[in-house]
Amino acid sequence: KVPVELTNETVKNFSYDEQKDWDLLRVALTKYTDNGALDIPLIIDGKKVYKENTLPQVNPAKHSQVLAQVSQASEEDVLSAINSAKRAKSEWLRTPWTDRAAIFLKAADLISTKYRYDMLAATMLGQGKNVYQAEIDSIAELCDFFRFNVKYAEEMYGVQPIKSSPGVWNRAEYRPLEGFVYAVTPFNFTAIAANLVGAPALVGNTVVWKPSATAALSNYILMNILEEAGLPKGVINFIPGEPNMVTDNVLEDPEFSALHFTGSTQVFKSLYGKINSNVAADKYRDFPRIVGETGGKNFHLIHPSASIDHSVLSTLRGAFEYQGQKCSATSRLYVPNSIWSEFKEKLIAGVETITIGNTSDSSTIHEFMGPVIHEQSFNKLSLAIDEAKQDSELEIIAGGEYDKTNGYYVQPTIVQAKSKDHPFLKNEFFGPLLTVYVYPDNEFVPILNAIDSTTKYGLTGSVFARDRSAVRVAEEALRYSAGNFYINDKCTGAVVGQQWFGGARASGTNDKAGSGNILSRFVSVRNIKENF
Ligand code: SER
Repeated sequence: KVPVELTNETVKNFSYDEQKDWDLLRVALTKYTDNGALDIPLIIDGKKVYKENTLPQVNPAKHSQVLAQVSQASEEDVLSAINSAKRAKSEWLRTPWTDRAAIFLKAADLISTKYRYDMLAATMLGQGKNVYQAEIDSIAELCDFFRFNVKYAEEMYGVQPIKSSPGVWNRAEYRPLEGFVYAVTPFNFTAIAANLVGAPALVGNTVVWKPSATAALSNYILMNILEEAGLPKGVINFIPGEPNMVTDNVLEDPEFSALHFTGSTQVFKSLYGKINSNVAADKYRDFPRIVGETGGKNFHLIHPSASIDHSVLSTLRGAFEYQGQKCSATSRLYVPNSIWSEFKEKLIAGVETITIGNTSDSSTIHEFMGPVIHEQSFNKLSLAIDEAKQDSELEIIAGGEYDKTNGYYVQPTIVQAKSKDHPFLKNEFFGPLLTVYVYPDNEFVPILNAIDSTTKYGLTGSVFARDRSAVRVAEEALRYSAGNFYINDKCTGAVVGQQWFGGARASGTNDKAGSGNILSRFVSVRNIKENF
């Protein structure tokens, strides 16, 4: 039995009067801002490789501040990372799984204690989070992934063939995949990066890891913590680099056996296509496993019977926490006409209380919203806002300003669409831009159909209603519209072990992060029958 309590890591309550927590956090923030840019190497076969070719990682809240110079892998480095993963494999797969588990449990403990403030500071500075968003991500969710995966592995290994006849012993061996795993990880959750590399490694795989350029700092610290916790060299190889070049080289290798991905639908589709054409060309030994979590166009549907105050507050949180950059963020809202006037008034009043600023700077650390991640994202959002200003089918009812003078700031913006088919209700913007459609009260059923068919995504969604029959009708009609369906709650904030996370359609393969199912994707079972 594994010595893990199945409880979620406690989120530290950074209340204003906990001076000690703030002091420790400020020390950590200063460490990463006042000592010049940190040189981040590649880590291949346990060795740090510093490259002349680097890419700066800037603070999106203050883009003049360079946090790190991130070494960029060359083609040769990618090949040596692959070779390192292959070499490390034979010993790692023979390491008792409990020893592998101990490394991840130890890493979780190091993160919740010794390195808590480093992880928070790196996630706040590099990824533009406020302290609360950094806590729930880089501490709580991350530790939960490592600890719960150990419990899930224990359960998985315990599942054995249920029948043996006299003189026969049937057993299942949960072999890791026979090649190596390629993990492509996102900027928006440090925890997701940890799970994308940690889950396959826990069950005996070795990993080539391409982190996001805009999360390199927190991800590098995590890599160091894993090593301090005892991760043997070569088990995870950390290679930031130009995405297409890294990917193309990795996918050429006959021992590529799985992709573990979180990022945009577009990139995932392109990787999926390349893998499949390589399969058709007989490039690989195995049919690679493809596990991906991508985009969404997540909805809040308000029924006339809903509590207005609760659904307004939930919508503000779902749409604007972390600047709407969670894959699960609320980006379309459907409100019935009969309550729209009160709802709108409260929604706008709420948006006006939202403060924006540099959440990693001492004087503005308490702001609710920080910057969006980079200039490309800022440009996409500001363009959309400009379009909304021109489009007679849209009306901006809150926000609508943006400014990149110092950092990539976009106001929380709400746009009302006149038609339920407007592209703003279909397309993902990945930022603080919420589109509302007001539907006639007697069109609750047609609106369910519109919610289901307007977008190609299927990640998260919520229905707010006190009327049980409305909940039932929505649950039925929206069966495939969301892999995470919420009743009277916002559609963000899935907790490991409590709400298994992921969606189908264009949102991914729906293998459910935070559940045991993920582990089963990275093992290839051998059945053994022995006669006595
Ligand atoms: N798991 C996160 C959430 O539910 C998103 O990635 O908000």
